[in-house]
Amino acid sequence: MNYSIEEQRVLCALPDLLLPWYAKNKRDLPWRADTDPYRILVSEIMLQQTRVEAVKEHYVRFLASLPTVNALASCPKEKLMKLWEGLGYYSRALNLQKAAQQIVAAGGFPKTYEGLLSLAGVGTYTAGAVASIAFSIPVPAVDGNVVRVLSRLFGNRENQDVLRKYYTDRLTGVYPKENCGDFTQSLMELGATVCLPRSPKCILCPLFAHCLTKSDALPMRKPKYERKKVDLTVFVLLTPKGVALTTRDNGVLKGMKQFPNEERFLSVQELTERLNSFGFENFTVLSERPHRHIFTHLEWNMKAFFIKTNDAPLSFSYYPAETIGKEIALPSAFRWCVEFFD
Ligand code: ADE
Repeated sequence: MNYSIEEQRVLCALPDLLLPWYAKNKRDLPWRADTDPYRILVSEIMLQQTRVEAVKEHYVRFLASLPTVNALASCPKEKLMKLWEGLGYYSRALNLQKAAQQIVAAGGFPKTYEGLLSLAGVGTYTAGAVASIAFSIPVPAVDGNVVRVLSRLFGNRENQDVLRKYYTDRLTGVYPKENCGDFTQSLMELGATVCLPRSPKCILCPLFAHCLTKSDALPMRKPKYERKKVDLTVFVLLTPKGVALTTRDNGVLKGMKQFPNEERFLSVQELTERLNSFGFENFTVLSERPHRHIFTHLEWNMKAFFIKTNDAPLSFSYYPAETIGKEIALPSAFRWCVEFFD
């Protein structure tokens, strides 16, 4: 992509324009208290696809419970999932623990951008954020907020994926020698608090005089995706040993506890056959309840069958009803069932 001399001039001026603004206007967020790489990594993984407001409380609780990379590396899965409950995208938690285990095995945190990139679940954005904030290495971290700020500033109408790569390259050349982490966060902060997706507060913007757009016209919106719709039969099995749970082995909830389920609706005949094949011979269906759960790219149309049985086959784990959704983490897609336990 070609760029103008004017674009180069404004890019070079960005640290001087943004750092004083950031020092005065930055939000007081819990991960801004220090530059410990473990704490920064946890915050950046939590902040992927999750709003700052939703992350704050989880972050404080997570670090109070797992204050060091060693503590995370050896944390039981159950406890990890409980600490992550409510943040969604649970594979992030599993990858974060894998990264902690890599760090412990290597005898310490990688201190280069490339070393950070080799950690589980860490891509160019997260590696850039941790490198610049924790280690003051001059590399950018360009997320959706930063693409929005820069595409508006320079009136660039290319699509988001092209712009993410383009601005990563372009920013690399203008990083300040000091305050790298503040510069990274100043761009994010401007996108999050001033250069808003809709109704940006241009009047408050430190880049107003240089901005070619001065409106919410950019970046070009992606065409709206179709959310995939899936029917789900859910078995809530109440046994003398407790309620039957399994661990999900795929998709967005991978690694989380769940009620046994199947990705289609079953006829009464099929329901009986399925329960028999699980090892439940005698059972009574107490009730059937519908529920819709909406993920970002997926919609589950659920039918849950609440079933009382005296059997407890070994292929499931069993937990006391009162612990499910409390000590035993359960994703919100299934948590609604808990209110209907007898
Ligand atoms: N989003 C991603 N990283 C962030 C950070 N360090 N501060 C605020 N919002 C963020």
